[in-house]
Amino acid sequence: MELLHVLLAASYILLVSFSQSSSKCQGKTLPYMTPDVTQISGRSFDYIIVGGGTAGCPLAATLSERYSVLLVERGSSPYKNPFVLDKRFYGFALFQTNEFSSVSQSFISKDGVSNLRGRVLGGSSAINGGFYSRASDAFVRRAGWDEELVKESYKWVESKMVFKPELTKWQSAVKFGLLEAGILPYNGFSLEHVEGTKMGRTVFDHDGRRHTSADLLETGNPDNIVVLLNATVKNIIFHKKGTENETTVHGIRFIKSDGNVSQTYEAYLKQLENSGSWGDVILSAGTLGSPQILLLSGIGPKRHLKNFGIPLVLDFPEIGQEMVDNPSISVLLESDPQVQLPDPPQIVGIADDFKFIVQGLILPISINATRIPISIKLAFPASKGKLELNSTDPRQNPLVEFNYLAKEKDMKECIKMVQLVERVARSKSIAGFLGKEHYSNSKSPREQREFCKKNVRTFYHYHGGCAVGSVVDNDYRVHGVKGLRVVDGSTFLESPGTNPMATLLMLGRYQGIKILAENNQHEPSKSNHTHTHI
Ligand SMILES: Cc1cc2nc3c(=O)[nH]c(=O)nc-3n(C[C@H](O)[C@H](O)[C@H](O)COP(=O)(O)OP(=O)(O)OC[C@H]3O[C@@H](n4cnc5c(N)ncnc54)[C@H](O)[C@@H]3O)c2cc1C
Ligand SMILES: *[C@@H]1O[C@H](CO)[C@@H](O)[C@H](O)[C@H]1NC(C)=O
Ligand SMILES: *[C@@H]1O[C@H](CO)[C@@H](O)[C@H](O)[C@H]1NC(C)=O
Ligand SMILES: *[C@@H]1O[C@H](CO)[C@@H](O)[C@H](O)[C@H]1NC(C)=O
Ligand SMILES: *[C@@H]1O[C@H](CO)[C@@H](O)[C@H](O)[C@H]1NC(C)=O
Ligand SMILES: *[C@@H]1O[C@H](CO)[C@@H](O)[C@H](O)[C@H]1NC(C)=O
Ligand SMILES: *[C@@H]1O[C@H](CO)[C@@H](O)[C@H](O)[C@H]1NC(C)=O
Repeated sequence: MELLHVLLAASYILLVSFSQSSSKCQGKTLPYMTPDVTQISGRSFDYIIVGGGTAGCPLAATLSERYSVLLVERGSSPYKNPFVLDKRFYGFALFQTNEFSSVSQSFISKDGVSNLRGRVLGGSSAINGGFYSRASDAFVRRAGWDEELVKESYKWVESKMVFKPELTKWQSAVKFGLLEAGILPYNGFSLEHVEGTKMGRTVFDHDGRRHTSADLLETGNPDNIVVLLNATVKNIIFHKKGTENETTVHGIRFIKSDGNVSQTYEAYLKQLENSGSWGDVILSAGTLGSPQILLLSGIGPKRHLKNFGIPLVLDFPEIGQEMVDNPSISVLLESDPQVQLPDPPQIVGIADDFKFIVQGLILPISINATRIPISIKLAFPASKGKLELNSTDPRQNPLVEFNYLAKEKDMKECIKMVQLVERVARSKSIAGFLGKEHYSNSKSPREQREFCKKNVRTFYHYHGGCAVGSVVDNDYRVHGVKGLRVVDGSTFLESPGTNPMATLLMLGRYQGIKILAENNQHEPSKSNHTHTHI
């Protein structure tokens, strides 16, 4: 089917799905969802999770097994949006962006590189390529995580929203292209981070329907979760207690995403009679969102906050530091005929001692045009940047700079990446699929360097800003603040595996179980009447 026909079909699906209005998704029950801020205003919960994204949804579902949970998401529901759910429209959400309401929010880093972030329940798992692959054992060990619980948590995610793909013709050509280029051995289907060429898993099921992290909310206790949609958290509210040295979290302040930024509402953490609060506010607002909210709350570098007139709560220079994006190079291929169906990645090449990750896809760039890139990412860049506020409006993007290829080591690797990705693009298998060969001029080392500078782009795996170690401790609690954690990609020091989604879904589940277990230990009397499904 041609792209244009697909689009006509989309308007039909939109009509059909708008006429149904159940909150059921394939027979299971999703928790109560509302965009009505007045229903939530003034209420208290055991846990408040900010950001219904990739890590936030499994975390909310897990905590709801025993606690009341408020999940606040600035975007709307994914369940009636064919551009999110239907594989035939994969990529459409990426070019249809606007300032305040599109499911993808675009941003341009100070480096001048265009980028995207999810703005919908399900977060970036609702707009991404859906490629699913676990982190390496080495990554898990470096993180200091409990290896058994990590495995259980991956399996939990996989049993609910992850599928074995049927290779498309293009992905099959990519597979042979990677092998021809020497990315060996061939590992078949594998969830593990193993060198060579392999097939991964996908969040698109056999009917071409995308499963987002929002689907994991069905696994929680629906009576214990409230999902507030179309509401943007502006900042965290703290207790004003003169006697305590440690800053303690009281709740959150939010606005309607399409409302007036001065019209704010509040929700609180429940208070236990004896000593302060029980639960936490947990930021799962993503790599840009979580450090932004901390800054807006007065937690960050003193001078920067002063420039924006934000009252200082805690001078914390590390907030917004260690921002990293994996530099990437794409070779755009031409095919005959031009119009191809969107094709998310199913294959990956892991080359040169895990340094390079190669994938190929077909992306629509407008209603009637597609692009066929082969893209390569540098897995462990040395260059780092930072994030700062650009506005006190929480709906505006913060300013972020990644300093792509600033370190000479990264530049040297980029030159190797250009050579490898060109080798894949020139393979016979890929030429066979395209109906033509890919020509590229052989470049001198100086030209390759210039090429890297001009063509570096994102692989969308940016991370950091609330780095574990400097901003959060090993339990993902923010240093120096009581009742505040961060659980999402902003905590990563490096991007896990080939692609991070699997590990972020896992992390939400893992941290949820850790918190349940931790509370069990400290408050044994609370545990004897509620059954926990772990
Ligand atoms: C285009 C694209 C393609 C990608 N392809 C892949 C792929 O194929 N495989 C893979 O593994 N990874 C892929 N990734 C990367 C992966 O999707 C992300 O790294 C991951 O989803 C990030 O998860 P997170 O939980 O950190 O943040 P998100 O999933 O982005 O969640 C953050 C959530 O917080 C919400 N939020 C932010 N600020 C606020 C606020 N102030 N108030 C309320 N809510 C707020 C956001 O709306 C969002 O829903 C891709 C990413 C992109 C953008
Ligand atoms: C939520 O926001 C989206 C995007 O702005 C909008 O289309 C939708 O109507 C809003 N939903 C409600 C119930 O306000
Ligand atoms: C608060 O900090 C001061 C100085 O660091 C210390 O002397 C005092 O014991 C602390 N109080 C509490 C309650 O921890
Ligand atoms: C926003 O709300 C504030 C305070 O309620 C009010 O003074 C202001 O006029 C409002 N702005 C708009 C654009 O409605
Ligand atoms: C795509 O559509 C636009 C406007 O609808 C038109 O200007 C453009 O020429 C079309 N491109 C192709 C390749 O058909
Ligand atoms: C920063 O804010 C200014 C003024 O509102 C705006 O013009 C600019 O586009 C913003 N920059 C970014 C990167 O969002
Ligand atoms: C725990 O169990 C004991 C004995 O069965 C009971 O008396 C007590 O009320 C229970 N505690 C809670 C919090 O339910």
